[in-house]
Amino acid sequence: MPKIAIYAGSFDPITRGHEDVIKRASQFVDKLIVAVAPNLSKQSLFTLEERFDMIGEVLNGHEGIEVHRLDGLLVDFAAKMGANLLVRGLRAVSDFEYEFQMALMNRTLSPNLETIFMVPSVETTYISSSIIREVAKYGGDVKDVVHPYVASALRLKFGHNS
Ligand code: COA
Repeated sequence: MPKIAIYAGSFDPITRGHEDVIKRASQFVDKLIVAVAPNLSKQSLFTLEERFDMIGEVLNGHEGIEVHRLDGLLVDFAAKMGANLLVRGLRAVSDFEYEFQMALMNRTLSPNLETIFMVPSVETTYISSSIIREVAKYGGDVKDVVHPYVASALRLKFGHNS
């Protein structure tokens, strides 16, 4: 059976940390689906369309990786895509409680869907999309933590494109 994994998130915006997890995960699955979620509980900076386009640019037709929009429950989307694995990044102890809760809820909803946790590179463990949004908002340099395409989209969004 081919190993098809889903890496879901809001990616507002995609960071070097997400890219690191995607790269690591794609090495041991046959297909990795990056699923962009609508971000219901938080106010997004980028629209779903913008986030989807940015991920496409950043991954740039990488073989074995597809980008999809996530609508509804992750377990339903996984069933529709024929996926058997969910990939999550675990950056620090603070991520653990939320991740544990989600993994167990997803298992309750879909017992055959396994969640696997990836440890990101040390250089990216401190990054989050919200900290990047905040730095970019005040004109700070985010070139080390996001892809150049994303850095430019952030500059445009906040009017720092001079
Ligand atoms: N590097 C950098 N940042 C990372 C990261 C990494 N490796 N891993 C996570 N993050 C950041 C994200 O950017 C985000 O940062 P922010 O809060 O500062 O914006 C934060 O950690 C949380 O990200 P994530 O864990 O991906 O959560 P999310 O809110 O983006 O996505 C879904 C959560 C979409 C996976 C989840 O809500 C879902 O499955 N939704 C579908 C509906 C559903 O099935 N719900 C029931 C789930 S049990």
